[in-house]
Amino acid sequence: MDGADATPAQATEPAVAPHPTAAQAVQPTAPQPPQPAAPVAEAPHADGAQASESTVPAAAEAPQADPSQPTPGQTAVPVAAGQDAVAVTAAGQTAVPVPAAGQDAVAAPPVGDGVAEAVEVTEPVVLQGPQLAERVPHATDAPAAQAVPQPDTASHAVVPDAPAAQAVPQPDAASHAVVPNAPAAQAVPQPDTAPHAAVPDAPQPDAAVPDAPHPQGPAQNPEQPLPSGLPVGADPRPLGEFVPVEGQVPTAPHLAPTPPHPLVVPAPREGEPAGAPAPDVVQHADDLRTTAADQEEGTAAVAEGRQSTGPAAPGYADAEREAVLKVMRERRDIRNGFRSDPIPHEVLLRVLEAAHTAPSVGHSQPWDFVVIRSAETRRTMHELAMRQREAYAKSLPKGRAKQFKELKIEAILDTPVNIVVTADPTRGGRHTLGRHTQPQMAPYSSALAVENLWLAARAEGLGVGWVSFFDEREMVRALGLPEHLEVVAYLCVGYVDEFPDEPELMQAGWSKRRPLSWVVHEETYGRRALPGEEPHDLLAETVAQIRPLDAKALGEAWERQKRMTKPAGALGMLEIISAQLCGLSRQCPPPIPEPAAVAIFAGDHGVHAQGVTPWPQEVTAQMVANFLGGGAVCNAFASQVGAEVCVVDVGVAADLPATPGLLPRKIRGGTSDMTTGPAMTREEAKAAIEVGIETARDLVAAGNKALLTGEMGIANTTASAALISVFTGTDPAEVTGRGTGINDETLARKTEVVRRALELHQPDPADPIGVLAAIGGFEHAAMVGLLLGGASLRTPVILDGVSAGAAALVARAIAPEVLAACIAGHRSAEPGHVAALNKLGLRPLVDLDLRLGEGTGALLALPLVQSTARAMHEVATFDSAGVTEK
Ligand SMILES: Cc1cc2nc3c(=O)[nH]c(=O)nc-3n(C[C@H](O)[C@H](O)[C@H](O)COP(=O)(O)O)c2cc1C
Repeated sequence: MDGADATPAQATEPAVAPHPTAAQAVQPTAPQPPQPAAPVAEAPHADGAQASESTVPAAAEAPQADPSQPTPGQTAVPVAAGQDAVAVTAAGQTAVPVPAAGQDAVAAPPVGDGVAEAVEVTEPVVLQGPQLAERVPHATDAPAAQAVPQPDTASHAVVPDAPAAQAVPQPDAASHAVVPNAPAAQAVPQPDTAPHAAVPDAPQPDAAVPDAPHPQGPAQNPEQPLPSGLPVGADPRPLGEFVPVEGQVPTAPHLAPTPPHPLVVPAPREGEPAGAPAPDVVQHADDLRTTAADQEEGTAAVAEGRQSTGPAAPGYADAEREAVLKVMRERRDIRNGFRSDPIPHEVLLRVLEAAHTAPSVGHSQPWDFVVIRSAETRRTMHELAMRQREAYAKSLPKGRAKQFKELKIEAILDTPVNIVVTADPTRGGRHTLGRHTQPQMAPYSSALAVENLWLAARAEGLGVGWVSFFDEREMVRALGLPEHLEVVAYLCVGYVDEFPDEPELMQAGWSKRRPLSWVVHEETYGRRALPGEEPHDLLAETVAQIRPLDAKALGEAWERQKRMTKPAGALGMLEIISAQLCGLSRQCPPPIPEPAAVAIFAGDHGVHAQGVTPWPQEVTAQMVANFLGGGAVCNAFASQVGAEVCVVDVGVAADLPATPGLLPRKIRGGTSDMTTGPAMTREEAKAAIEVGIETARDLVAAGNKALLTGEMGIANTTASAALISVFTGTDPAEVTGRGTGINDETLARKTEVVRRALELHQPDPADPIGVLAAIGGFEHAAMVGLLLGGASLRTPVILDGVSAGAAALVARAIAPEVLAACIAGHRSAEPGHVAALNKLGLRPLVDLDLRLGEGTGALLALPLVQSTARAMHEVATFDSAGVTEK
């Protein structure tokens, strides 16, 4: 390993353009940020109308024009690693890059607006070839870390070279942390090779264990820290158990069965009108009429085959219908801008009457409304809500907590009237029609009353704010409610200054509205179609929505960077990233990618049977439990950088119990052995991709502004190597790595396994889903979906290690412009990862010899990405700061 090669300055030297000086960098065409690497946009459009978007050559080739001769009106566009800026004309046209001989030419798939042209994807100059290979610490010469776990002490004979100076990233790298020379390996905890029923002391995923070989140490040393960094014994929670953690369990609320005393209200006797209530508790005496019931049932029974005669019952006239739709559209949850004006009785009565006409299960009308005006009661309720607010705030990742601090979530003291809406799960008696199987229908019915109330209030000009920051039982006690009641809603009601056009949470950037097309399915779940549309394929729809970087925003980014109070290009690679964020979001400055979430997809692999790793397969499930319990490295890193950890079971062999934070999306309990047949069916591969797309949708709609890939799956580096071999055309021997730190013998076997699988399937890289199905993993497929989904939503996705790199290759083969959203978080020590990044033309932000997976490298890169976006917002310009330009 040549240390000189590891210096970013050299490693990222553009092949054509020299390092820009500050003066050069402000030139419109030639100037290059010193270390271009991100996906690049260019806009090879003749049509000005299309000029706002540009195709995305992942690593666009240098324009042929003389970069030192700017064309008037051209703008320098950031380019990928080793690439030159692409000149964008004022009209948004771009000098079309000319691929060098031998470079890949990838045709962009048709995108909706026809903007995408054939995209020339070239290999990044500076990250290619021997230079790059030399920068990558080989497993055997990686610095030997202290207390690194070894999965198989008996069979490991490889002793690492002492950490070579060359392997250490140089301190002049803006994004490269300095790795001190690590001491020689010490006694290390050693998981044994035999499958464990119990949790190993140091479980590590295949891709998650440092692979630096070690001198052999004692087989087990309980004093040594776990690979996660947790000292053994520091946390009494055993790994591999699902530990309940704070938060919402992913089950519907109010699923509790009817309480054991279901008949507080006596059931009506047969033949008697239900409840025989006094007339003043119903709206009309007619409501109690039941004599027509037989007749009505008879009508319903024959309704199906009945020939319609005469006109159908009329709907409302246009204006009336519009009024109904208008009140639904313009209903808002209000927390700000309440007035203290009293609510006249007749107004409140109309609102309550509307609530009371809601539909209800078995016509049980399970609601009650407790109208609270007393300031003292409201103060008590306010205190209860504030306590819960605090508890919730503490449970949030930092990125979210910051946002939440600014949110008002109740208006208990600001409103003249508060209304508690309850549900009586016993009302209507034991045989309430429709509640037998689904007891939750009682509170659902009360929720419908709330909606009626809300709409009627809106029509009256009254704002309503729903507060759900209550411990229900606490509230029941504080308000002296009967114990058998459930509290459905606590509503703050009053006149308001205005009704915002959009939900307040949307305005605050807390969440986004999900399009209707995401949630309407035709006949069966998954066949999404709006009425009148053909059901569409989620993958095809997602790919069609992926767009190149926006050339206009890119141009603005470049202009802005030139005016920022710093020498042009001084932020190096980070300037590329910020320009990419602008092009991706079509905004300059771009949204700061916070909050962020790492999606950790977990799956098992049939190829495990081939002995490619000493780690038992059940470690996948055990580590999933560890993630959910907050005890893994990814949790520590996520907590440090303020990101949410979202764990997705897309194919874990074991059945995982429902646990807060776990998304149960299992396609199958592990893939099949790729050496004997396809790992997955095509349908399974697509289904797993869809899991990733939906995860991206959910996380983005929930307000996340950056997605990070993470993965967990014992034996998944074998599948990663196979995928990378196919998409990079590299021999398995060059891309198969030591994963968890396997010895020479296992590495040879693993390489052979990859080779055999490729020989068996002869995967065709032009059929990416076929390749994925043959040799990939469920988590790879889901990551492909996450990338495509993120790109379609113009949300940056920070890639983690080798498995993410493999997934990115598949995603690129499906939709080349996906790279517009991709940021390489780090470079792992797996040789396949280097080959993947090289092929993708992505330059990693962090290079610390990590080999852990779980999203850890991506998490470390997150603050870098956020910092560069923030700089675009906050750094003064020469003009505004009165700083003299050079
Ligand atoms: C069941 C339920 C509970 C809610 N709880 C709260 C709450 O505790 N605090 C709050 O500020 N908003 C609460 N809301 C309001 C939602 O945030 C709001 O409905 C959503 O952001 C959409 O905005 P819109 O109602 O203005 O369309 C709740 C809404 C519902 C339906």
